[in-house]
Amino acid sequence: MYMNYYIHTFGCQMNYSDSERIASYLNSLGFKKASKAQKADFVIFNSCSIRQKGEDKVVGQIRETARRKKQNPNLLIALTGCMVRHSSTQKTPKDLQDKSLRRLSHLDIAFRIEDLPKLKSLISNSLKSPEIESQKNYFHIKPDYTSTFQAFIPISTGCDKFCTYCIVPYARGREVSRPLKEILQEATHLVENGCKEITLLGQTVDSYGLSPIDRKAGLFNYTEVDAGKLPPPFVQLLNKIDKLHKKGLKRLRFTSPHPKDVSPELIEAYGKLKTLMPHIHLPIQSGDNTCLKRMNRPYTTKRYIEIINALRASCPDIAITTDIIVGFCGETEKEFKNTLDLYGKVGFDFCFIGQYSTRKGTYASQHLIDDVSREKKLKRWHILNSLLKKITHEKLAKFIGSEVEVLVEKSTTKAKNFLYTGTTPHNKVVQFTSPRKNLVGTFQNVGIKKAENWLLHGELI
Ligand code: SAH
Ligand code: SF4
Ligand code: F3S
Repeated sequence: MYMNYYIHTFGCQMNYSDSERIASYLNSLGFKKASKAQKADFVIFNSCSIRQKGEDKVVGQIRETARRKKQNPNLLIALTGCMVRHSSTQKTPKDLQDKSLRRLSHLDIAFRIEDLPKLKSLISNSLKSPEIESQKNYFHIKPDYTSTFQAFIPISTGCDKFCTYCIVPYARGREVSRPLKEILQEATHLVENGCKEITLLGQTVDSYGLSPIDRKAGLFNYTEVDAGKLPPPFVQLLNKIDKLHKKGLKRLRFTSPHPKDVSPELIEAYGKLKTLMPHIHLPIQSGDNTCLKRMNRPYTTKRYIEIINALRASCPDIAITTDIIVGFCGETEKEFKNTLDLYGKVGFDFCFIGQYSTRKGTYASQHLIDDVSREKKLKRWHILNSLLKKITHEKLAKFIGSEVEVLVEKSTTKAKNFLYTGTTPHNKVVQFTSPRKNLVGTFQNVGIKKAENWLLHGELI
């Protein structure tokens, strides 16, 4: 039973990280990664549920892939990620979350990512040749890291926050953290093998180790943590990983923290740790207090600004990015204006703006009315996006004339030169050309000449 596989990944970095685990799992079964989807006889869709548009895209691509079954009757199609509620091997997965998926009659397997260790038997069942699975915990499957110098490490799964608009607590379940020792082992192994940059992942990464399940499991010394004698678990973890700079770790990042769980110790860490990069992605969602309440985001704009000020005191030039939803249920012109005002006041480096999309099963879908019209949502998106563009450009322009350290991530050939793309400590994307070969994975000092199209352009020094 050897097959060529291809994984389509949608959604957030958590899914990209999970896809690395799927790849390594399939490699260990003797499967081979196909160079493109058309050449694969096992196609996996790692899906995102955050907005309806995203789900529609996955459904469309599955249908398109299924057309190939006419030429290749052995083609297997699997779905995982946030669109899946229960794992199953069946032609019509009844228990998938969205009714429209029931019409996906060509889907052979649906599996929750935690059930990755069972995928082998799900495949065997689909092929009607039963076999037994081996691994138990999907985190124990070592990822097939796509890069040798950068890595994502999930430190927790699920979410307990239940923002009223959000499907994640339903799709990913309760918040559970991985033991510190296990994460540290993974990080150490990566760094010893040349990894220079680690990004820690979690839905609310800064509540690491604090969920009821974590407490029950006794992951940390909660008497000391609660008494303030030990830093919060997330900061304990950052402190430990930072020590890996002795082994060659240069950059440490994490995404996404929740404003509620930002601790003074975390803010201080920005001024102290050698590897923690001067950038934070801190989703605000709305700049209006009543809207934040409807969203069940338990902080005020005042508190958010306090956090930003404290972060800037600890790390003066810290880059701040965020997520904002426009057109949430009941969002008035006044509320939207408050968001615009706050956006300008904070001066965000960048923002992901999403137009509100009702997700079935959430509190908002049951108790609030999606009363901002499509046109209005789009209009608000454009207004906020213009402000975003302006401020993002100003933030980039500040780097003109300075010298920045770039971790080179990609290269393409351009005439006789190579066009390199990489990121700065502040997570700004930089492009430069050079005749020098093989710079991917190295650090280079770049003199910034101009800011254009969301990017910095410069020359090697
Ligand atoms: N855990 C992260 C966010 C994960 S989802 C956090 O709390 O910050 C990524 C982003 O998708 C959210 O920050 C939000 O801005 C957006 N989002 C979530 N649900 C949405 C919905 N129903 N409609 C539109 N955007 C949504
Ligand atoms: Fe969704 Fe809120 Fe959890 Fe983020 S914190 S994943 S927005 S419920
Ligand atoms: Fe999407 Fe799931 Fe991430 S819904 S944003 S893939 S946690």
